[in-house]
Amino acid sequence: MADNKNFNFSNIKLGLAGIDKQHKTILEDISEILTSSSIENSLFLKKIQKLKIIMFQHYTTEEIFMKNNSYIDYDKHKIEHDKLKNIIEDLESKIADESITLTDRYKLLESLLRGLILQIHSQDKKMIDYLAHKYEDKLYHINNLR
Ligand SMILES: [Fe+2]
Repeated sequence: MADNKNFNFSNIKLGLAGIDKQHKTILEDISEILTSSSIENSLFLKKIQKLKIIMFQHYTTEEIFMKNNSYIDYDKHKIEHDKLKNIIEDLESKIADESITLTDRYKLLESLLRGLILQIHSQDKKMIDYLAHKYEDKLYHINNLR
């Protein structure tokens, strides 16, 4: 999926600054790893661990946000987070014990990138639209998200 490596960020903006910023950082990080020509194993692992941390922080932000706003589809949304958390954890452990080929690393990263973009366009968009509608002109809660 070479076309996914250089994504156009304007396509994934949902209009909620805190969330948009986190998405951009995550997608840029993945894209940076995917476009690096050769990365030595321990550096690759460090990059994946950094990516895992920012992904987990992002999911925590969204989960707190959904809970604080009594979002009806919280459970469904969280299942989708957990699926992608599993992919990055799987990738991390396989790189750590050197049980994955270079090709398969990139395949897993590409599936992670595709999954994230899909998530942004589906669950995240739904969540933000729902809450924007819920608060209508009282967007204080949403716009004050870090
Ligand atoms: Fe998200």
